[in-house]
Amino acid sequence: MTQVTFLLNGAPVRLEGVMPERTLLDWLREERGLTGTKEGCNEGDCGACTVMVTDARGSRALNACILLLPQLHGKAVRTVEGISGPGGELHPVQAAMVEHHASQCGFCTPGFVVSLAAAHKAGRRDFDNVLAGNLCRCTGYAPIVRAAEAAADAPVPGWLEEDLSKLPLPGPAAPGGDIFLPRSADELARWYADNPEATLVGGATDVGLWVTKQLRSLGKVAFLNGIAEMQEIAIGREEIRIGAGVSVEAFGAAMAGIHPSLAELIRRFGSVQVRNAGTIGGNIANGSPIGDSPPALIALGARLHLRRGDVRRDIPLEDFFIAYGRQDRAPGEFVEAVSIPRQPDRLRCYKLSKRFDQDISAVCGCFNITVEGGAVTAARIAFGGMAATPKRAAAVEAALIGRPWERPTIETAMEVFAEDFTPISDMRASAGYRLEAARNMLLRCFLAGRGVALDVLEVQP
Ligand SMILES: Cc1cc2nc3c(=O)[nH]c(=O)nc-3n(C[C@H](O)[C@H](O)[C@H](O)COP(=O)(O)OP(=O)(O)OC[C@H]3O[C@@H](n4cnc5c(N)ncnc54)[C@H](O)[C@@H]3O)c2cc1C
Ligand code: FES
Ligand code: FES
Repeated sequence: MTQVTFLLNGAPVRLEGVMPERTLLDWLREERGLTGTKEGCNEGDCGACTVMVTDARGSRALNACILLLPQLHGKAVRTVEGISGPGGELHPVQAAMVEHHASQCGFCTPGFVVSLAAAHKAGRRDFDNVLAGNLCRCTGYAPIVRAAEAAADAPVPGWLEEDLSKLPLPGPAAPGGDIFLPRSADELARWYADNPEATLVGGATDVGLWVTKQLRSLGKVAFLNGIAEMQEIAIGREEIRIGAGVSVEAFGAAMAGIHPSLAELIRRFGSVQVRNAGTIGGNIANGSPIGDSPPALIALGARLHLRRGDVRRDIPLEDFFIAYGRQDRAPGEFVEAVSIPRQPDRLRCYKLSKRFDQDISAVCGCFNITVEGGAVTAARIAFGGMAATPKRAAAVEAALIGRPWERPTIETAMEVFAEDFTPISDMRASAGYRLEAARNMLLRCFLAGRGVALDVLEVQP
């Protein structure tokens, strides 16, 4: 039987007979009495359950409510109870929270403290980003950010160092019960080909909700987060290859100097906690019509690398999405990586959602348009939220290519959006709004290229 071992607030824990659906939050509160970690939404939205997880890649904030216990194998977990010192000494962010009156009802406070302690340990000072996944409805953010700023220069307390050598080496790889913890893509490929009915878990930011909201059993599960080779980003001269297990946060960081508009899109993907857990492979494989990375990757001409056993194939990413809930993936086949051809940066991504932070797109439009000698010579345009799958705007592209990059061309192309898309109305937006917003994104892309400030962060009152 697979054992799951990890450090909890510095002390080794060894669990046997773990159910794959058991969340860290429930286990902490029900079996360990560590009730400082709160349950708010139980779906990754509020940050009340934030814990700090450390492994060879560093320390990060994660939502315990959608973190399944086997995902912690070989790592160190710190709850709010372990953020203060062994003698009850306050962590600098805790002392600053007191000093700056940054807590009223206090329900959100443990989550804020852990998010800030993780940011403090990582030396991050972009507090608006770091706190976008923590909701506070009493105190408000100003005193909390003041506390974060006040604590920023204090040294990281020694008690937060994690000694992972106290754990037995992660493994064994042999499957036990319903849980498989592969250490390599080869191990996963063999096991999944033999167990094609199994569930794969990347970061569990979707699968976690199947458990907490739909109360589903997962059956046999392979947890992919122990496969280091699938967490690599290889930036070559010809292409960038992103392993399926690369976190959304790491992907955004890698894109910052290469396709900055994509990095900015990723900054608005969920929250830090969601991006730290969620993977690019999961964002593609879930087949969602409103996933944020597929439109950008399709606009960049990405290819998807699939593997079943020893058989590998790669396809244009747009061909993966066949229909709503249907992807070009055979039983036992998994996403190994996605690759983007190197190219000059022309990508512009626009995400429209009801809230700026921590919200799913109503419409996400990505434009990769090449203009040479004043005319459009190539165009790859893709949208999320406009059809049952992420989809290219073929008619719009055709209306642009070969024409002058001038306003009349844009206005003509805006007319043909209805040939590409018949969006639906739902709680995020009506069909008419979606169509008009998509058209206006093309106009925005054109005007941005002429230096007009249109981003909400650029427009000054
Ligand atoms: C609060 C919250 C906010 C969110 N905000 C956004 C957002 O702004 N934008 C957005 O796009 N999404 C958002 N999401 C959705 C989710 O975070 C992303 O889709 C994420 O990328 C999923 O990745 P994961 O690794 O967590 O997937 P998982 O939950 O682990 O898996 C998702 C699906 O993919 C399959 N899978 C995973 N890895 C592989 C693989 N290598 N090969 C084959 N199949 C695989 C799983 O079996 C499952 O069917 C949000 C989710 C939450 C909870
Ligand atoms: S309880 Fe809200 S994010 Fe976990
Ligand atoms: S102090 Fe009450 S929700 Fe933040």
